[in-house]
Amino acid sequence: MSANLQEKDRRFIWHPYTQMKDFESTDLLMVDRADGVFLYDTKGRRYYDTISSWWCVMHGHNHPIIKQRVKNQLDRLEQVHFAATSHETAVELAEYLVSITPPSLSKVFFSDNGSTANEVALKMSFQYWKINNQPRREKFISLERGYHGDTIGTISLGGVPAFEGPFRPLTFDSYRIPAPYCYRCPAGCPEPEKSSWNTPDEGPFSSLNCSLECLEPLRKLLEERGSTIAAFILEPLMMGAGGIIVYPRQYLSEAVSLCRSHGVHLIFDEVATGFGRTGTMFALEQAAVSPDFLCLSKGLTGGYLPLAATLTTDEIYRAFYADYSEGKTFFHGHTFTANPLGCAAALGSAEVFRRENVIGNLREKILCLQQGKERMASLPHIGDTRGTGMAAAFEIVADKESREPFPAARRVGWQVYLAGLDKGVILRPLGDVIYLFPPLCTTTEQIDDILERTRQSLSEVLASMEGQA
Ligand SMILES: Cc1ncc(COP(=O)(O)O)c(C=O)c1O
Repeated sequence: MSANLQEKDRRFIWHPYTQMKDFESTDLLMVDRADGVFLYDTKGRRYYDTISSWWCVMHGHNHPIIKQRVKNQLDRLEQVHFAATSHETAVELAEYLVSITPPSLSKVFFSDNGSTANEVALKMSFQYWKINNQPRREKFISLERGYHGDTIGTISLGGVPAFEGPFRPLTFDSYRIPAPYCYRCPAGCPEPEKSSWNTPDEGPFSSLNCSLECLEPLRKLLEERGSTIAAFILEPLMMGAGGIIVYPRQYLSEAVSLCRSHGVHLIFDEVATGFGRTGTMFALEQAAVSPDFLCLSKGLTGGYLPLAATLTTDEIYRAFYADYSEGKTFFHGHTFTANPLGCAAALGSAEVFRRENVIGNLREKILCLQQGKERMASLPHIGDTRGTGMAAAFEIVADKESREPFPAARRVGWQVYLAGLDKGVILRPLGDVIYLFPPLCTTTEQIDDILERTRQSLSEVLASMEGQA
């Protein structure tokens, strides 16, 4: 049965972010079922879902509250178009989202994935300036190593060269500025003291001993071209797909005030950081800042169904609010906008957050993960260990002194992934960065076990790299 599935998969399916040829000699991980923090394959083997099934399964699999909400919704309404039509579950969810995000965010535009949440924000910002008498504001700023999705619009603002692939000619021009990547500081500054990065109350870099010279390019760009810029898009506090790069919250608050002083919109992409990943419901809370657009997806439904939301301000909403003949309508939408099942799952996730005091109970787990991650620091080739909240990452380098990476063709991260499978953990790499993004319900005992299995997987592969560059 399992062999048959493998064979049929190879015959009929093309997987995302996957070189299918790799599976000539290796089987795909054929998942049969899941429960809590575990996935089970068709042979009955158990794996920790160490990456929350692509960062979205916040409360673990098979949660009774979310399941029941979706089942109830299925008996009532499964799908309806959302133009000039609405439904109670979407209304309830929008009210909830407005209640848990900064007070200036008052309107919710639904879509169905993280890329579309960001596309919506880009298009709204762009159109806002057209209808608000600043038509020259046509450019966007984004960060090198930032990631906002895989559509042409979002790759135009992405900063991970490997993901851009051959598509550069299809993208629009934008300004990319250096990332606040402390391990490889673009301004050449020493890494700030990490001691206070990890607890939600203190937040990353609470006692920052760094003058944030990496902000200079943003300052300069805004001074020279600020009036032509529509918005700056960034992932608050932690850049996910670019390598789980945790950066100072002071960078975020400074960047916000710089943009504000030039009238530039802020788009916060909290697709990955939202819903508790960094230890607070949203990462923006740790810098006490508020954007013009907040983009959410992934954890929104607790990972049970695809759904996304772009929240914005009354001021922006009002600019589009006019007689139809004025041509200010926002022409954007998706078939599954505000899908009722997705909205029901999101309300289920909200109920779990409330009933299980998920955020309140994170502190001990975060300490366990952040202190425990330091066990990797002494392994050969681990150049950096970093993390915040319920995210931890280990950057593998060929040489710890020079921080030189291994050639990509060596696929060290991929080898760690394969070793992890043998040890029952899913260590899906980002190049040579191995990371842990466990569900928020993972217990401290389970976190410890995950760390130990990760250490063994890393140590097995990295020991075999000794003396090789
Ligand atoms: C920060 C961020 N933005 C956007 C996206 C894109 O989301 P999706 O894959 O749902 O399109 C991702 C996905 O990993 C992400 O991490």
